[in-house]
Amino acid sequence: MTDALGEAANPRKARLVVLISGGGSNLQAILDACASGELAAQVAAVISNRAEAYGLERARKAGVPALVFPKDKEILRSEYDARLAELVQSYQPDYVVLAGWMRLLSMDFLNYFPGRVVNLHPALPGTFPGTYAIARAYAAYQRGEIRQTGVMVHLVPDEGVDNGPLLAQEVVPIEDGDTLETLEARMHAVEHRLLVAALRGLIATAHLS
Ligand code: GRF
Repeated sequence: MTDALGEAANPRKARLVVLISGGGSNLQAILDACASGELAAQVAAVISNRAEAYGLERARKAGVPALVFPKDKEILRSEYDARLAELVQSYQPDYVVLAGWMRLLSMDFLNYFPGRVVNLHPALPGTFPGTYAIARAYAAYQRGEIRQTGVMVHLVPDEGVDNGPLLAQEVVPIEDGDTLETLEARMHAVEHRLLVAALRGLIATAHLS
């Protein structure tokens, strides 16, 4: 059944579990969109691998369970990922959203949520995978190699770094007189909007039971 917009009229809100490692401004965009009804979803839990992540405070303020799940040196990555998957699974997510989650997830995690893990990356497909993508794009601009960068939202089917089936992307021009800070600010504004739009599109095509 679909609604007037042709979107799936789901019998319930989509359940999201959001993984973060830092400030959580993208998490905040999701929380605000859920609160305003722009997203027919609810954040069931927020999990960080770092206790000092300010995003946890944003979750608490929104009344959402905020959990810290650090990777102890003693345990193997595969063991950590499997335990993390069990924790995430306990919140019964329809989608797992990586919003500034700074760990590469192995198949020991991804196998729990086939087709349901969404990642945000501050670069265009095939450009600047990995960390510090905005700073690396800015450095390439200063070398005269590029005049634009962008943002992508994609599914995470495997252990590829910042690549996977694309859900949304947007080009962000680098303008004369830009500093790294002004570029970062413009990029984050696009991220907040694009992530919510991509999740909205995903939920609109989902048939939740
Ligand atoms: C974002 O730029 C995201 O694309 C990248 O890490 C940053 C996290 O920002 N992976 P925030 O924690 O959501 O403010």
